[in-house]
Amino acid sequence: MEVTIERILPGGFGLAHAEGRTLMVALAAPGDRLRVRVDRVKGNVGFASIIEVVEPSPVRIAPPCPYFGRCGGCDFQQLTYEAQLSAKAEIIKDCLHRIGRINTVPDFNITAAPHQWRYRSRAQWQYDSVRQRLGYFESASHRVCDVSECAVLAPELQRTLETLRHNMSEGLLPDDAKYFRAVAGDEGVSVAPGVSGPSIGEDDDSERLPDINRSIGEEKYKLNAQSFFQTNADLLPRLIAGAIGDLSGDTAIELYCGVGLLTLPLARRFNRVIAVEENSDAANFARENLAGADLVNAEVVAADVAAWIESDLKCGVGAGALEIDFLLLDPPRAGAESRVIGGILQLKPKRICYVACDPATLARDLKKLIAGGYSLDSLDAFDMFPQTHHVETIAKLTGP
Ligand SMILES: C[S@@+](CC[C@H](N)C(=O)[O-])C[C@H]1O[C@@H](n2cnc3c(N)ncnc32)[C@H](O)[C@@H]1O
Repeated sequence: MEVTIERILPGGFGLAHAEGRTLMVALAAPGDRLRVRVDRVKGNVGFASIIEVVEPSPVRIAPPCPYFGRCGGCDFQQLTYEAQLSAKAEIIKDCLHRIGRINTVPDFNITAAPHQWRYRSRAQWQYDSVRQRLGYFESASHRVCDVSECAVLAPELQRTLETLRHNMSEGLLPDDAKYFRAVAGDEGVSVAPGVSGPSIGEDDDSERLPDINRSIGEEKYKLNAQSFFQTNADLLPRLIAGAIGDLSGDTAIELYCGVGLLTLPLARRFNRVIAVEENSDAANFARENLAGADLVNAEVVAADVAAWIESDLKCGVGAGALEIDFLLLDPPRAGAESRVIGGILQLKPKRICYVACDPATLARDLKKLIAGGYSLDSLDAFDMFPQTHHVETIAKLTGP
């Protein structure tokens, strides 16, 4: 069937309507006239793929990567960079309207990435030891797309991928490895094989890898490939400034702190910081990073955020007994659990900054914070992931 793409939806699909059905078309551009095939139907929604571009959108370009369409890594290479940014702004507004029920979404800027290609300073490559493939999952599948050159990898990670591929061809990769994680430091790359399914950020009982250092702005961070670190190092100084700005005060709480990317800047501006992170390796790095910066006013708690908030509120002597000037949370893609939002509302911080890598879960959580009496003051967006539909959003709220 032939359809016209109306706009880009959360998830990166192009929206079209045909034969009484809503269609979500992968790898489309707004304004494209396309011949599509419906691959799967869920309720009244059909998921479709492009058979032919009948009339290209003015913002459609030829995707430069030879794996585009098969590899599940990038889904926006068919758009000019300006169109990628507009689509991401629309995605954020759509989520806040539809999921967050926010009628008046504040105007916001989306900060472009300094580099649209070769920007990824962290990656996870899937490994199929039977078929001898190393790369990314194909879209909507667990088949590994064998990738020898990835146009969004920072040069040092591209070289690491090439070394791993060389080792694969020599039979030197561990057979039980399912994926490899890599993160680039100022000098050198940390690489870790993974044997089962968890994504970066979860505990791993393998041996601790050698540390690497990464400088971001004025701060230095020690880390390795087993802990979460943001993907686009070049944009991080802007993201940190957007999240914390010139705020200062007495007490700040930081939830989901990782290796302390935001904890160090917070500890420079607040007299006391309590940061929470469940991955014990990451929490240890955060402590080492604070110590390395001579910051003694921040405490890192290695705990699940929901469990920590609940126990802290119950015992009445921890954060629950403090007046909190600022609470910053940067949860994984799934957002914050209901118990966490409930706990935040009980902690009653004067200001909240929510750093989110998924606008849909951000919108869901903002709805609860707003229902709890907070008002949404401002939004900011950062294009941490060019060539994909992903976007980092920062929402700032003030308490009742
Ligand atoms: C998006 S990352 C942010 C980390 C840090 N703010 C940064 O920018 O580098 C989310 C972090 O939350 C941690 N995490 C995930 N679920 C958690 C939970 N239930 N409780 C505490 N930490 C959690 C992960 O280990 C990861 O370090």
